[in-house]
Amino acid sequence: MNRRDFMLHTFYASLAVALPACSPKDKKPHGDMAGMANMAATPAAAQPLAPLSALPKNLPLQSLPLLANQSADANAFKATLTAAPMQYEIIEGKPTEVWAYNGSRAPLLIELVEGMTVEIELINQLPQPTTLHWHGLPVPPEQDGGPMEAVPPNGKRTYTFTLPDDCAGTYWFHPHPHHVTHEQVFRGLAGALIIRPRTPDALSGLPETHVFVTDLKLNADGSIAENDVNDDMNGREGQFLLVNGQYQPMLDLKKATRLRVWNGTNARFLNLQLQDNAGATQKLTQVGTDGGLLTAAQTHDELLLAPAERAELLLNPNSTHATSFKLNAAAYNQGKMGMVQATPASTLVDLTLAGTAFKLPSTLRNIVPLGDAVHQQRVVMSETMSMANGVHDMKFFINDQQFDMNRVDFTSALGVVEEWTIDNISDMDHPFHIHGGQFQPIQRERLDATKGAPTKFAPSWKDTINLRSGESVRFKMRQTHKGVRMLHCHILEHEDAGMMANVHVV
Ligand code: C2O
Ligand code: CU
Ligand code: CU
Repeated sequence: MNRRDFMLHTFYASLAVALPACSPKDKKPHGDMAGMANMAATPAAAQPLAPLSALPKNLPLQSLPLLANQSADANAFKATLTAAPMQYEIIEGKPTEVWAYNGSRAPLLIELVEGMTVEIELINQLPQPTTLHWHGLPVPPEQDGGPMEAVPPNGKRTYTFTLPDDCAGTYWFHPHPHHVTHEQVFRGLAGALIIRPRTPDALSGLPETHVFVTDLKLNADGSIAENDVNDDMNGREGQFLLVNGQYQPMLDLKKATRLRVWNGTNARFLNLQLQDNAGATQKLTQVGTDGGLLTAAQTHDELLLAPAERAELLLNPNSTHATSFKLNAAAYNQGKMGMVQATPASTLVDLTLAGTAFKLPSTLRNIVPLGDAVHQQRVVMSETMSMANGVHDMKFFINDQQFDMNRVDFTSALGVVEEWTIDNISDMDHPFHIHGGQFQPIQRERLDATKGAPTKFAPSWKDTINLRSGESVRFKMRQTHKGVRMLHCHILEHEDAGMMANVHVV
């Protein structure tokens, strides 16, 4: 069955199961379609979602709460993170059970410095095993919170590692247990992590603002919605896009500002766009990626931040009069399967910007190319679709296999440069992520060369990169610790459904 037939088949099958008396011309908008799929799968669980008016908006943006350092030693960081359920009123009068670190409603921020020795204790008060994964950090595999080393309920463990030099950048942390990473993240477990350079970088003089984006799929009764079949297939998106835990907050900036943006959602593609109050698109100035500053700033009309990607932007005023903007996530079509609408546009932050323009240095940083690769590695991301009893079933694969914790899928050699080629032969976008640190993207091309010429990447360090259907991306990477790493799609529903593989570094 080709994709289009599959979609139609899926659509009619879901009508037949959910609403026998309904005809295709009664086609409803997105929310109702999602509800129908949910009814078909779990009739008792169908719940109306909270309307967008249920959450207050335009409140001043709060900073991310900083995780305090308990160490007296300036070269060390020591803290405890307790993961536990807690209740609070997201909708007034209707308490929501969320899962949080240290009882914080907003995502926490961990600030580290290059070269630091880090010791963070995890206490698990969740009803499930959990881990702490340091997304993008060059830490040893056994300290990186993989699913093989889950901490059971009521258990604890301490993660310790020493940061190398030259790893300043914008990272994050989240759980990585087997099969339930998506659930732990959608219930609230994820936080920001910044590694500061030991000596100031080209933009260290600027004030910073942090925009940690998550999303929330909330029922009208205040409970967090369960995933429906469309969420499992395409990745879950909530109706509320949150910034630092707030819905469409306001940000008032009086100076040129370094803005760090994290996509901490399960599956939402953030097509970042800056819009002025006349509705016109303004250029976005990007100064950094996942692994720190770019060598030179880039300007974009839109900047796609796929799930798990980060970017640093410069918001630069051009007059002392405050100008209003919206930082939006513009509409994006990642090729969702089933009768599901493409991700609609949404505002992240309303902001005003004033002050004098900052003179951006032409060179932000030096990135030394990794050089010739000693090995080649090839990853193919694919899918299969089937219809059994009128219910669509999709499976996602890495090199034709689903994840098995006990199988080694790739072998990498310690300390040498390897060139990885990732092909996406499936019908949707998949953000590819590999553990162990940062890679250098080389080029992006179409698998069908008649569809366009390859494009080279400007120098950068990244740990997550999006691949559209029919794309291939090449990057170079050097693994710096022995042990078992993982690579996977960072749509967390896909990861948990097995779109993940082990890389044994020897
Ligand atoms: Cu943020 Cu294995 O991932
Ligand atoms: Cu990771
Ligand atoms: Cu995926």
